[in-house]
Amino acid sequence: MDKIVSLAKRRGFIYPGSEIYGGLSGTWDYGPLGAELKFNFKQQWWEYMVLRRENVFGINASILMSPKVWEASGHTASFTDPLVECKTCHERIRADFDEEIRAHGEGHKAKKEKVDWTEPRKFNLLVEARLGAVEESKSTVYLRGEITQGVHVNFKNILDSMHPKIPFGVAQIGKAFRNEITPGNFTYRLREFEQMELQYYVRPEEKAAAEVFEFWKEERMKWYIGLGLNKDRLRFREHAPDERAHYARSAWDIEYETPFGWKEAEGIHNRGNWDLSQHAKFSGEDLSYFDPEVKDRFIPWVIETSCGVERPLLYFLLDAYHEEEGRVVLKLHPRLAPYKVAVFPLLANKPQLVEKARQIYQLFKAPSSLPGRRAGKFQVQVMWDDRGNIGKRYYSQDEIGTPWCVTVDFQTLEDETVTVRDRDSMKQERVAAKDLESYFAERLQ
Ligand code: GAP
Repeated sequence: MDKIVSLAKRRGFIYPGSEIYGGLSGTWDYGPLGAELKFNFKQQWWEYMVLRRENVFGINASILMSPKVWEASGHTASFTDPLVECKTCHERIRADFDEEIRAHGEGHKAKKEKVDWTEPRKFNLLVEARLGAVEESKSTVYLRGEITQGVHVNFKNILDSMHPKIPFGVAQIGKAFRNEITPGNFTYRLREFEQMELQYYVRPEEKAAAEVFEFWKEERMKWYIGLGLNKDRLRFREHAPDERAHYARSAWDIEYETPFGWKEAEGIHNRGNWDLSQHAKFSGEDLSYFDPEVKDRFIPWVIETSCGVERPLLYFLLDAYHEEEGRVVLKLHPRLAPYKVAVFPLLANKPQLVEKARQIYQLFKAPSSLPGRRAGKFQVQVMWDDRGNIGKRYYSQDEIGTPWCVTVDFQTLEDETVTVRDRDSMKQERVAAKDLESYFAERLQ
């Protein structure tokens, strides 16, 4: 973990939030490489969960919502963690975190002090903000504690504008905020983080909902494995009834085995009709669905898949980190790697090599004329490097997970071929410069 934290900072993946002012606990900033990695991660999720499906729509709701939303959803009353306070040093710790309770006790034991805890008390996780132009009339609102409610409050709008047929899903990616008592383990527990969620509306029937639940559980697990996470380090875990959030009829986590134990990557929940019926009650709006096929009106149930961004991305980084003889290599899936290709002129002081290498670099960098694609005709995240010798450049690209390096050398000037070096196998092959686009397109499919 320490190695990942240090690599992430040194190579521009993740920096401590507000660092020059001494930091702000529970916040981290994503640097140039981290921003690309995050973008790729979210894009992979969106492609898998939205673009390839017929019955899933995307939405992008506000972070600031009416405080009534949180009253209705139960978060004002129930979005709490149990907290105990040490009567000697007044440190507050989550009562359900055995490791921290133990570690705190160890500290006291060393000083021969006894730990005397208060009874657990509830601590609300919603982050407050004050909105309004005039100081006296500012009102308290909450930064959303989960992105979910932005979907449910728009249920009627979605029905009226998209006319979906049940079952259907609404997906969203966005920021959420929680006043976590003990943020930590790098980007594992944050106070500001992103979530990627699907709210899948189904008929309110136990058996049908259970089948859909199973379907999404398997789909979500496949997604992690498909993006290269070691499947031996992944597992499902069912929540015990007393562990479930207030909205959940059933809940399963996908967990990853980290250096600090098995930890949650995402939750899959059967939320029943909790959200829609609560919002119907509090808003007075009719949030039922009419099924024209069976001429039946009902409040649908919701199966939710709720995935973080920073937390599972940390698992991908931990999983990808390898130390091999003479190098550190981040074996990220090419679709996640911040840069797909690095282009080098063998020697930086040979204008002919530099010019040829620039042409190849521009080929991948050029802006697209095709709409709807961030990538160009075949645009990929490409890096230019002409510093130091070729060995150092390979080392540097391995450490940030670039899957392929393209070197323009003297042979290129004779026969228009380049060397392509593969990150994982370290094998090199000659490829015609004109075939590079299809070479990488094939490998990124
Ligand atoms: N809408 C349901 C919901 O929010 P959750 O289990 O509280 O469910 C879902 O959160 C996911 O969001 C978690 O599995 C985790 O990946 C991420 N997450 C939750 N709290 C987090 C935190 N404090 N820091 C980083 N990620 C967090």
